[in-house]
Amino acid sequence: MTDELSPSMPVAVDEASRAALAQRGLGYRTVAAEGPAFEGWLHAVSRGFQDGERSTDQVAAARARNAERRLTGVFDDSGPMPEVAVGTIASWSSELTVPGGGTVPAGAISAVSVAQTHRRRGIARALLEGEVRTIAAAGLPLAMLTVTESTLYGRYGFASAASAVTLDIDTRRVRWTGPVPDGRLDFVERTAARDAVVSLHERTRRRTPGEVALPPSHRDRFTGTDPDAKDGGDIRCVAYRDAGGEVRGILTYTIVPHAHDIVQGTAKVTILLAETDDAYAALWRFVLELDLVAHVHADLRSVDEPLLWMIDDRRAASVRVVDHQYLRVLDVPAALAARTYAAPGRVLLRVTDPLDIAAGEYVLTAGVDGGARVTAPTAADTPDVADAGSIELSVVELAAVYLGGVSPETLARAGRIRATDAASASRIFATPTVPSLGLWY
Ligand SMILES: CC(C)(COP(=O)(O)OP(=O)(O)OC[C@H]1O[C@@H](n2cnc3c(N)ncnc32)[C@H](O)[C@@H]1OP(=O)(O)O)[C@@H](O)C(=O)NCCC(=O)NCCS
Repeated sequence: MTDELSPSMPVAVDEASRAALAQRGLGYRTVAAEGPAFEGWLHAVSRGFQDGERSTDQVAAARARNAERRLTGVFDDSGPMPEVAVGTIASWSSELTVPGGGTVPAGAISAVSVAQTHRRRGIARALLEGEVRTIAAAGLPLAMLTVTESTLYGRYGFASAASAVTLDIDTRRVRWTGPVPDGRLDFVERTAARDAVVSLHERTRRRTPGEVALPPSHRDRFTGTDPDAKDGGDIRCVAYRDAGGEVRGILTYTIVPHAHDIVQGTAKVTILLAETDDAYAALWRFVLELDLVAHVHADLRSVDEPLLWMIDDRRAASVRVVDHQYLRVLDVPAALAARTYAAPGRVLLRVTDPLDIAAGEYVLTAGVDGGARVTAPTAADTPDVADAGSIELSVVELAAVYLGGVSPETLARAGRIRATDAASASRIFATPTVPSLGLWY
């Protein structure tokens, strides 16, 4: 467990990926956010995610947002626009909350895109393998990302370790049955809400395994306060203050009007952050009872959202669970020792790795205090000696169980791992708090 700042990402590119891309006549370079190559890199990201060309203002704002990221591009000098990358990736050093309330340094990856003209030639593979090796070489025990498609990243050793829930609530069917707190609600200006989001996120992120440090590029995301934000003025912001006047929660939302009926608007929650149960109840009640609103839509909520126990008609809420926070274990001892465990015991882990970064045999010894030691097995560490048996698994399944989002027992029943005593291993890996992540990055 550590709260220290994690090491910075290197500028040099991964040599194996550079050589693989060079064989195909492609360049592979890091790009400085303040330099001349940035604009072509950014245009490529925008095009890759089906967005439009960036204006001068948007490029300038994006330079600031990307200042703390490591940006890498693949370039095809034989094309008519050699300055626009044909492949992009970004990464930065972040922190991941783990069971027990500690954090572990993790390399966050984003902006993975390949030009449609250059797809399915191995460019994404070179970018992902290169970034994963770079993050491992920088000494970060994990890599992490959020994804457009579930099928893309298992081949590089990633698995979803925290799911997210999309809620669609028919507010006409709902009566509030939750607490009605004493504090007050006020509309606040978007810049004040932005500052509240940043500080509340920082104060609450260690409570939930799977949460991350708010990326600097996201400070203005929920309040539309970016200099180049298009529809920021549509965002409404409400703060909850406790009896002492302290801001304990913030809600930001937009209203999507109904095509024909003004009383049937949809409130889309951009973010709802609460530091106290009172703030949580007051802000959810507020959004469910908005006049001229018949539907509330909120995504990236937790699988065990208390809200579902605060309304009288459970079927008024449609709940859709999606895979969300993907992890990739790079340093097994450092990653496993960073979290706490629910029960004492010893388990022998036999880990395989498609990229051969984290493969090996490890003995996890969880103590009565919840802490753990991870050691190399000795001759005495047979499955019989480890009281919770042995598990044969790939680094993908290790990532899946890491935050407690799924148990070894479930993965054994699914045929994804082989465990001699999956029930005991599950008791060790269990976590009281369901892992969750409330943002895309
Ligand atoms: C997804 C994307 C980055 C893939 O780039 P690419 O260069 O065509 O991928 P590669 O040729 O390197 O393929 C690597 C592997 O992924 C597989 N793959 C690529 N795209 C896939 C897809 N959409 N679904 C499933 N598998 C896919 C390939 O079959 C290949 O498998 P293998 O090496 O195990 O045989 C690209 O299609 C893209 O930019 N999509 C739009 C933006 C996006 O969704 N980015 C991901 C953000 S999380």
